[in-house]
Amino acid sequence: MTDNLLEAAGLMVHYPIRSGMVVNRTIGHVKAVDGVDLAVPRGSTYGLVGESGCGKSTLGRALLRLEDITAGTVTFQGRDITKLRGEELRKLRRHAQMVFQDPMASLDPRQSVQSMLTEPLRVHGLAESDRAEFGKNSAKAHAAKAASMLELVGLPRSALGKYPHEFSGGQRQRIGIARAMILNPELVIADEPVSALDVSVQAQVLNLLSDLQDRFGLTYVVVAHDLAVVRHISDTIGVMYLGRMVEEAPADDLYREPLHPYTTSLLSAIPVPDPVVEDARERVLLDGDLPSPANPPSGCRFHTRCPWRRDELCATEDPPLREIAPGRRVACHWAETIAAGRIEPHAAAVVPAKDAEGAGGSATAAD
Ligand SMILES: Nc1ncnc2c1ncn2[C@@H]1O[C@H](COP(=O)(O)OP(=O)(O)OP(=O)(O)O)[C@@H](O)[C@H]1O
Ligand SMILES: [Mg+2]
Repeated sequence: MTDNLLEAAGLMVHYPIRSGMVVNRTIGHVKAVDGVDLAVPRGSTYGLVGESGCGKSTLGRALLRLEDITAGTVTFQGRDITKLRGEELRKLRRHAQMVFQDPMASLDPRQSVQSMLTEPLRVHGLAESDRAEFGKNSAKAHAAKAASMLELVGLPRSALGKYPHEFSGGQRQRIGIARAMILNPELVIADEPVSALDVSVQAQVLNLLSDLQDRFGLTYVVVAHDLAVVRHISDTIGVMYLGRMVEEAPADDLYREPLHPYTTSLLSAIPVPDPVVEDARERVLLDGDLPSPANPPSGCRFHTRCPWRRDELCATEDPPLREIAPGRRVACHWAETIAAGRIEPHAAAVVPAKDAEGAGGSATAAD
């Protein structure tokens, strides 16, 4: 039996849309996450991808109970955490933390790195396992732990007395990672941890995350809109579209053979380093724009943009996420038929990549 640290079942997060100045009426809901099942084995990395607005951040936050859950359940360490409140919810924070795109951007620019790093310790206290090494929960013990965390993320102790503006983006993210890890959590959800960084720095920060995972047996959920970012660090990748998981697969399998048309389109937008292959690369362009998650299309939510869409079935019946090969789950009525090459996408959707850059209505994995 697999030891899943984190699971979600039928998870939904709907945001009410309100109107009216005097009487606040709810006139609909943004279905940001709309029925997601997910299982993350202990010590593994789950990469969550999909274009802007598909619900990745909302899902990541809901898994940590940072969003109100409309329906469904979240299980962490074998325990249902969907309805935790107060002190119980506070205790969860010690075990499950979040890394943001630029965590220091949202913090007080006048707060020193030391104050930033020790804040979680002031709230929760040192982890049990750290007390032997650092002593009781004194300011001195907290400062010592903060200094050791800085070294762990590759920054000098002298950074403790500095302020956010004194660091580069990559250094700031290292501090954000140190802050998330200072309580020795088991689970870290990283929302676009490298999206704000230069490509060369991205690799360094991703390597740091991998090193920390190996060292401490951490479990990660890493959110990215860029599939290239999560490829090498993920064991499993989940592709989201309009609040739903449309494909889930071991990372290598997903890149080698995407099974959902949406995944195919996302992957086709990634440039290939080999110039010969790149020259022949074809883009699969999607029709139109992302529909509103307040009013998702009937049937398969992707059918309005799908170059492989067939008939009534696509427009009327919602395809479940089903296992069609070991470890391969896909929510498409026609997945097997498409994989066998027996249905072609409509001709206008497939264009040479070099002609497609900047084309409208397409899913770009690198935007
Ligand atoms: N607090 C909120 N209130 C209302 N709607 C929200 C709220 N947060 C997110 N949404 C909406 O929910 C949908 C999903 O948003 P979310 O931020 O989860 O997407 P995302 O996949 O993380 O996108 P991005 O790649 O741009 O970060 C979007 O339509 C968004 O506008
Ligand atoms: Mg987001």
